[in-house]
Amino acid sequence: NGATEDKSYLEFPDIITLSELPKERGWLSEHVHQYRGFWYPTGILQGLGALQQQWFKPKPDSVLLASYPKSGTTWLKALLFAISNRTQFDFNTHPLLSSNPHELVPQLEAYAFKHLTNPTPNTCLMHSHLAFNSLPESNCKIVYIFRDPKDVLASCWYFVQKLRPKDLPFISLPEAFDQFTKGYSPFGPFWDHVMGYYKASLEYPKRVLFLKYEDLKKDPIFNAKRLAEFLGHPFSLEEESKGIVDRITELCSFEKLSNLEVNKDGTHTGFFIPTIANNIFFRQGKVGDSKNHLSEEMIEVLDEITKQKLGFDLMTT
Ligand code: A3P
Repeated sequence: NGATEDKSYLEFPDIITLSELPKERGWLSEHVHQYRGFWYPTGILQGLGALQQQWFKPKPDSVLLASYPKSGTTWLKALLFAISNRTQFDFNTHPLLSSNPHELVPQLEAYAFKHLTNPTPNTCLMHSHLAFNSLPESNCKIVYIFRDPKDVLASCWYFVQKLRPKDLPFISLPEAFDQFTKGYSPFGPFWDHVMGYYKASLEYPKRVLFLKYEDLKKDPIFNAKRLAEFLGHPFSLEEESKGIVDRITELCSFEKLSNLEVNKDGTHTGFFIPTIANNIFFRQGKVGDSKNHLSEEMIEVLDEITKQKLGFDLMTT
């Protein structure tokens, strides 16, 4: 509603004036607003405002995990957390056994908004759903995870059904599909979001790593090693011979994480949603599950847009 939105303009008057931005129907919030070519939920724009005013800055040696929602963020949070802290934790008492990955790796824009009075997070690992063109300036390394948009859309739609506030009307799958393909799904257009990071990974290969969910699925061990190398701490021969890489990928696997008590029955405090059940971040964890939910026509349309906007190389290499 207008009154709530108006309050946020007062907090970020010079940076973002919500009333002047084009808006569309949101999925988890009433509206999404178009800013620098992307559609953001109202709360996220407030975080973006805080970041732009530089009230909050990531530490220079931070690692930022970036993703379009439902592309494998939870999995990559777990992997990056386990890889970068591997000398600190024992596998029997590992924090991932008792905390959901979203509790261990905060979301940059949400954190910026909520922690204005305490702007230094005590973590070097953060996450963002923002488009590349709206990230705060920094020299952080970035790992982006890409997923087939058909699976992203199906996953998003199920997620939204579970989390959409009850006072907002239901969004059908055809409606969600329509918004997604037209580009005004939250954080969309999906394809521009991907392209921003893909181009950055070509331009700054030492700073930006572009990973695919499907590749991670195919060979988690190879990709865990790639991640450790990218972070500047490759696995040593000793670590490999002790089976550390295998143990990390097992710990972060869908089967392991989704069956932990904390992720079956636990909750965590979301930044914009007070209590989030951890199990909503684990549904199928498969490649290609969207074919069981999307119509043939939807699949054709999405594949055609992907072919046109991203080109085949991105889908097959
Ligand atoms: P599905 O809904 O297709 O099952 P995000 O973490 O970005 O919100 O994405 C959620 C998607 O990743 C969901 O996809 C979820 O099941 C899947 N997922 C969560 N943890 C995973 C893991 N450890 N391995 C593989 N997929 C995982």
